[in-house]
Amino acid sequence: MKNLFITLTISFFTLNFYGQSIESPNAEFELNFYLDKKGRPFYNLIYKKEKIIENSGLGFIINNEIDITTNNNNDVDVDLIGDEVNLLNGFSLISISRSSKNETWKPIWGEESLIRNNYNELLVKLEQGFSGRLMNIRFRVFDSGLGFRYEFPTQKNLSTFIIKDEKTEFAMTGDHKAFWIPGDYDTQEYNYLESKLSEIKERSVDFKEQNVSMKRFSDWGVQTALMMKTSSGIYINLHEAALIEYSAMHLEFDLSKMSFESHLTPDAFGNMAYINVPQNTPWRTVIASDDAKDILSSRITYNLNEPNAIDDTSWIKPTKYMGVWWEMITGQSTWWYTNELSSVRINETDYSNLKPNGTHAANNKKVKDYIDFASKHGFDALLVEGWNIGWEDWFDRKKDYVFDFLTPYPDFDIDYLNKYAKEKGISLMMHHETSGAIRNYERHMDRAYALMNKFGYKSVKSGYVGRIIPAGERHYGQYMVNHYLHAIKKAADYKIMVNAHEAVRPTGVARTYPNHIGNESARGAEFRGSKANHTTILPFTRLIGGPMDYTPGIFEMDPRKNRPGFQPNLNETIPPGAVTTTLANQLGLYVVMYSPLQMAADLPKNYMRFPDAFQFIKDVALDWDKSVYLEAEPGRFITIARKEKNSDNWFVGNSNGYNTRNATVDFSFLDGEKKYVATIYRDGKEADYLTKPQEYVVESKIITSKTKLKIRTVAAGGFAISVYPNK
Ligand code: NOJ
Ligand code: CA
Repeated sequence: MKNLFITLTISFFTLNFYGQSIESPNAEFELNFYLDKKGRPFYNLIYKKEKIIENSGLGFIINNEIDITTNNNNDVDVDLIGDEVNLLNGFSLISISRSSKNETWKPIWGEESLIRNNYNELLVKLEQGFSGRLMNIRFRVFDSGLGFRYEFPTQKNLSTFIIKDEKTEFAMTGDHKAFWIPGDYDTQEYNYLESKLSEIKERSVDFKEQNVSMKRFSDWGVQTALMMKTSSGIYINLHEAALIEYSAMHLEFDLSKMSFESHLTPDAFGNMAYINVPQNTPWRTVIASDDAKDILSSRITYNLNEPNAIDDTSWIKPTKYMGVWWEMITGQSTWWYTNELSSVRINETDYSNLKPNGTHAANNKKVKDYIDFASKHGFDALLVEGWNIGWEDWFDRKKDYVFDFLTPYPDFDIDYLNKYAKEKGISLMMHHETSGAIRNYERHMDRAYALMNKFGYKSVKSGYVGRIIPAGERHYGQYMVNHYLHAIKKAADYKIMVNAHEAVRPTGVARTYPNHIGNESARGAEFRGSKANHTTILPFTRLIGGPMDYTPGIFEMDPRKNRPGFQPNLNETIPPGAVTTTLANQLGLYVVMYSPLQMAADLPKNYMRFPDAFQFIKDVALDWDKSVYLEAEPGRFITIARKEKNSDNWFVGNSNGYNTRNATVDFSFLDGEKKYVATIYRDGKEADYLTKPQEYVVESKIITSKTKLKIRTVAAGGFAISVYPNK
């Protein structure tokens, strides 16, 4: 490991007048920092001699410090003093330091077994003349882009304060093409839109979808990770890393300035974040390249997070699972036990005398059948939703005590089923739907995790559907960001892995807490009706921060066909609630959508209809030594090859967008002259994601590192390939 550290202290005049620059280790990026005449900090970013971020201002509007005075009785008076003040200009430079790092580290799970962290750093220390406040900005320039954050050191003139607005700018150099979803304080469960930046406002009306906890804040707001492409073919991705004790950042576009400004998620009072010095903000990231594949292989987000904080990680294991789930999602079964209750009082309502509705899925018989199936086909775990009391009135009632996470329904024998699962080599996956009632979840958390330990659950899927209680808090505000991390840390104390749905989108924090093996936080398979090219965008956006529990593997695209007696309506091209991809695309997703947690989401009976295709889901690995990004263009196509950890097996996946296309798989990543058996699962000749999604071909070939395969993919199609050494 190389660690250079040079501190330069130069006179105020020199520092203010001349900017400071640093380059990436490969010299492709150049970051420039300067203070303008008013003493406002600015930066710009150059990539291969072309400016990709124009001069962009930095800083904040804050509420004056909270004045804490102690009176003689030792009571503390907390008083908000003063008005909003700026932490925006009037700065001068106190010092600059430069350093570099070039190291490798081993993630507990990941797309590769060794990650290089190589950057040059510039730390600028600033003082605001008129207030005496200190603020540092730390820039790190990597070979794939930039990260920077604000740091508030311990000081006399700034203690606890409120961020009213973060004014970080990302000025664009043109009207780029963007892949975006609208800014929203509560949900990311949108289809992506592709448009010019200047069209964001007019196109934002396209987002008509309604959801109880949706909160758009402006017609020009978009979410991160935001993916863009310039007219000169440069791909730019804006996101954040290490979102801890802060609110999630959105971006607000200002057309007149062709510039984005950070827009944080406020709390009930409109405050954006509460800071207690010493404290740092999350990193703001700009990943860029003239090759879209480099955006996917960049590890900036993880590198800007702290190293693993969990001593013993032996219990953290990539997991392949099935679920008593899709049948509820598609409306054939229910989470709730009875139809006789319009409201529930937890632990007062007596379920024992209520009539079961006959559709409650989490019952002993059904769960046993799923365990048998999952075990027979080599899965690790089985998710069971709807096991606990309270589902009769769980949704959007603003009900505080909505679940206890402890009491099973009368037809779910928690002890017996866990023992049965264990005998069959399966562990049950716990489900904690919080319904957004955070106080209630935190109140029960220790007991809920202890119950999991008692019965042998290793992982929990948590969920945050609906409006947050306390009222006025938002899914992406600081209060909730603190909660999600609290849940992950506490789970680690109980050796439990967490997969959070509807939580804030990840920002690489799983490097530090690798028991955080999954997040939904985007539009997953459960939504159905996604655009044909949805999964050619997600790896460039949502997955930049970490894996997604996308729940692929749907073989029956028309959920109505799962019902006995179904009569198809031949006039409908897209059946309501349909999954809009081919079956071969669903297989490709196990490689394209990296996750150490992968679900086979469909019903066992649908897997039995297509056993040859199911074989790929059974075979595909979850943890990788290496990933090779073969082809990528956001919104169009992605092809990735990955080498299974500690093995010579490879798996290749492709997801295709709207146009029929021939993908090229160049196997030169394989070992020299060695022979391999490739089993290819691809779209059939007639395949059509709307009319014939189940048309696929499975074929095997002997290949070597010299082989190049052309594989035809249809709209919303794709392919998967398993590659085993020829024995
Ligand atoms: C939304 C989650 O995304 C889904 O997977 C879950 O089944 C429901 N909430 C109920 O908790
Ligand atoms: Ca969801």
